[in-house]
Amino acid sequence: MNALDFALACPKAELHLHIEGSLEPELAFALAQRNGIDFPFASVEALRAAYNFSDLQSFLDLYYACADVLRTEEDFHDLMLAYLRRAKADNVIHAEIFFDPQTHTARGIPFETVLRGLERGAATAQAQWGMSTRLILCFLRHLPEDECLACLDEAMPFIHRIHGFGLDSSEKGHPPSKFARLFERCRATGLPVVAHAGEEGPPAYIHEALDILKVDRIDHGVRAVEDAALIQRLATQHIALTVCPLSNVRLCIFQKMEQHTLPQLLAAGVRATINSDDPAYFGGYMGDNIRAVQAAFNWNVDTWYTLARNSLEASFVPAEQKTAWIAQLDACRAQA
Ligand code: ADE
Ligand code: ZN
Repeated sequence: MNALDFALACPKAELHLHIEGSLEPELAFALAQRNGIDFPFASVEALRAAYNFSDLQSFLDLYYACADVLRTEEDFHDLMLAYLRRAKADNVIHAEIFFDPQTHTARGIPFETVLRGLERGAATAQAQWGMSTRLILCFLRHLPEDECLACLDEAMPFIHRIHGFGLDSSEKGHPPSKFARLFERCRATGLPVVAHAGEEGPPAYIHEALDILKVDRIDHGVRAVEDAALIQRLATQHIALTVCPLSNVRLCIFQKMEQHTLPQLLAAGVRATINSDDPAYFGGYMGDNIRAVQAAFNWNVDTWYTLARNSLEASFVPAEQKTAWIAQLDACRAQA
């Protein structure tokens, strides 16, 4: 097996995936029709043609507009099942999935409608394909902290059905420190917490996410290479980064994949993982990310093994489950 075949075939976890970002144009149009919504794009092709982003905000504007077609429990079920079907094809055995309740509750969709739809999709994938999933509630950082605290209040009756908390949306001008109180309350639930940091924002935001929000993982974090002491800290404290290569190129964090900082992160011993972020918008799912990275860096089986192992080790499942999955990964490697 060559390195690319191994990378695609081996069992792995996806730890950075926004379920709303897996809404393919075809499904968006089907849901708009099913819900009787006048969707502001003429065709699937016209919508795809709008996927031409200059930065994070230009993407987020479209991402929030498209989310408007998600109205019913069935819609969230279909969205989840469609993503998990694609992930399974790339041998993702476990996915920790972000959802943005504020995007939906602000439109009058009840929190429980969103949650039940996503859970039902996940249950179908578990029953049909044995896939494991976790749901991570993400707060929108462009909104005031008080609104995020209200969202947490709304989520509390369902806390046993949520597996962690995250922070996403517009990074610049919305540092982690803005959410100190919110994350203190999130951590008090005993669930793990993560935050997007160092995607467009500076390395200082990564320090803040670690020091103030006390996150268990950093989402993106690719700008950490600008701060040598931070890289050292991430490596020695075994802090995982959920890196999203195609996303970073599509949002112009890097002009081309060859400029991506993944090789530096790995060389420094940082626990980096590969993920798809918003696959419907950024040119693909886990497998597409792997192919694009391999085309740029031509890594060997050892490096791909490290990346897959990092993803399983950095997941939020019990240690025994990780051990069992790593044994599966080792068996796959033995055949490579
Ligand atoms: N929401 C969805 N995708 C995101 C990203 N890449 N960064 C910040 N917020 C997001
Ligand atoms: Zn993201």
